[in-house]
Amino acid sequence: LGAVRAAEIRALIRDVPDYPHPPVVFRDITPLLADGRALADVVDAFARLVEADADGVDVVVGMEARGFLLGAPLATRLGVGFVPLRKAGKLPPPVEREDYELEYGAAAIELAAGTLAPGARVLVVDDVLATGGTAQAAVRLVERCGGRVSALAFLLELDGLGGRDRLAGQTVETLLRVE
Ligand code: PRP
Ligand code: ADE
Repeated sequence: LGAVRAAEIRALIRDVPDYPHPPVVFRDITPLLADGRALADVVDAFARLVEADADGVDVVVGMEARGFLLGAPLATRLGVGFVPLRKAGKLPPPVEREDYELEYGAAAIELAAGTLAPGARVLVVDDVLATGGTAQAAVRLVERCGGRVSALAFLLELDGLGGRDRLAGQTVETLLRVE
C-alpha cells in the first residue's frame, strides 16, 4: 500500500473507545470490509508482501473470526487452500486445542486433526496483532500439527502491546500500524 492509500484504508477502520471494556480501544474493520475496493486492495497488498518475503506458502491458516474474512480471499489469490483455526467447541472431533490470552480476555482455538500436510508451509492470517497471544497460540498449534510457519500477516499492528516481540524469530508482515 502506498502512503496515501494506506491512510485512506486506515480511515475505514473505526476506533471504538472502551470496547469491549475500558481501557481497550477496539479497532473495527467492518467499514473496510464493506468497501469493495479497500478489501481488494488489502488482499492484493497481502499477496505482494507474501510473494516477496515469505519462504513459500502451501496453505493459509486463518484465525476465527476476522482472520477468515481476510485469509480466505488471500488463499484464493495465492492459489492455495485455507484451514480455519476455530474457537474451541465449533469443530467436530478429532481436534487439536491450544489455550491462550489476548488483549481483552482468554480463549482457546482448535484445528481439525489431520488437516495440515506434514511439513506444510503455513501463512497465518489475522486482522489485528495486539498482544500477540492469539498469534503465538496459532504458531504453537500449527507446529504441533506438523506444519511450519512461513510468515504471519496482519492488517493492523497495535504498537506498544508487545505483539511483535512475542513473535520474535518469525516473519511478521503488517499493512498498517497504530499507537
Ligand atoms: C481479535 C483479533 C485477533 C486477536 C488479537 O480476535 O481478531 O484474533 O483478537 O489479539 P491479541 O494479539 O491480543 O491476541 P477475537 O478473539 O476478539 O475474535 P473475533 O475475530 O472472533 O472477534
Ligand atoms: N484484538 C485484540 N485487541 C484488539 C483491538 N484493540 N481491536 C480489535 N481487535 C483486537
